[in-house]
Amino acid sequence: MVIKPRLKGGLALTNHPIGAKEFVKRQIDYVKSQDKYEGPKKVLIIGSSSGYGLATRISLAFGAGAETIGVAFEKGVEGKRAGSAGWWNTIAFNEAAEKEGLVSKNFIGDAFSMEMKDDVIKFIKEEFGGKIDLLIYSLASAVRTDPIDGVTYRSALKSTTKDITGPTINFEKEVMEETTMGVATPDEIKSTVKVMGGEDWKLWIEALDKGGVLSEGFKTVAYSYLGPKVTYGIYKEGTIGAAKRDLEHTSDVLNDFLKEKYNGEAYVSLSKALMTKASAVIPIFPLYAALLYKVMKEKGIHEGTIEQKHRLLTQMVYGNNPVIDEERRLRPDNWEMREDVQAEVEALWDKVTPDNFKEISDYAGAREEFMQLNGFDFDNVDYDADVDLDELAKLKP
Ligand code: NAD
Ligand code: NA
Repeated sequence: MVIKPRLKGGLALTNHPIGAKEFVKRQIDYVKSQDKYEGPKKVLIIGSSSGYGLATRISLAFGAGAETIGVAFEKGVEGKRAGSAGWWNTIAFNEAAEKEGLVSKNFIGDAFSMEMKDDVIKFIKEEFGGKIDLLIYSLASAVRTDPIDGVTYRSALKSTTKDITGPTINFEKEVMEETTMGVATPDEIKSTVKVMGGEDWKLWIEALDKGGVLSEGFKTVAYSYLGPKVTYGIYKEGTIGAAKRDLEHTSDVLNDFLKEKYNGEAYVSLSKALMTKASAVIPIFPLYAALLYKVMKEKGIHEGTIEQKHRLLTQMVYGNNPVIDEERRLRPDNWEMREDVQAEVEALWDKVTPDNFKEISDYAGAREEFMQLNGFDFDNVDYDADVDLDELAKLKP
């Protein structure tokens, strides 16, 4: 089968398994081109198959020699459907990790369930040396079933103040168009906090603690985003912002608990805006990202997912140059948030039109990044070649 890209707005309907290998390889090559660092040896990553979670796993494994457990929600080959991008990313990661003799174990399923927590803890006890040094929480999900009351909650990408209308990029049609983000009901705000807030992160830590699998000095980091003024309406003051503030509150609760019992730490890290499966569907966000890339690339301070996570780990979490704000949040988004960067993004934001957006933003770069998430647009992958799905179906993460 020959696999071609098919998009629907900010959603990729297809992905390329051979391209996924290249996607992962380039991130590994970046880490290998940098100095090795002293970091954790045993790591659990929730949301390990794509975006920021995958980049974190790659940095830790190939930069610090960590053995990793990944939890992700992905699909394998079903008939003519080639499986999800995160499925192939995980297989590519496994192959590379195994070559270096690094344990790489994967649990594909629902991280929100208690069953998943029990399975992971059992594995840590019986086959992973008994303890973990670090847990990275990098989930992005639209739905969560609360394991305690059994209710299924759906997150909504909505405003909490008023209807927000603004421009965005439609990668499918390659146009800039107006989108409107409606106002959430109180129920929708509550549900989004249920899905994307800190409750599940806390349940993981409680279960791991009870299971006796946390090491002395254990750390945990959850990923969040704040963003600048131009995105406040859709992010900071949106339903997702409400959920992220809940996540931040949870980090303080967990930090007190871990400090006391394990001399450990819990942090939220505010990451830079990047194109990922999760962010590409947020209204307005893709245009902001394309303008931001333009400015940051011109200034020589642009980072992709791997550079961003590698800096977070080597400089901040396991380094001596943490950037921490007054709310105790790690700030690898510090370059994005620089005044000169934001002033230039705002100036472009005022100038951008459906006619000039391809020239004045880094549209090409943002689109390439989006396509590469799904294994497309690599110059060294032959996209006319037949992909043998029957053969590939034998591979499991
Ligand atoms: P992503 O979609 O690339 O990754 C999400 C991961 O969560 C995948 O591994 C997916 O398999 C996993 N997942 C989803 N539902 C699951 C479930 N029920 N059980 C197990 N695994 C599940 O998204 P991303 O952009 O890397 O987002 C990760 C975190 O980083 C999010 O908290 C996001 O808010 C944050 N973040 C993203 C950006 C950005 O610009 N993309 C910026 C700052 C922070
Ligand atoms: Na992730």
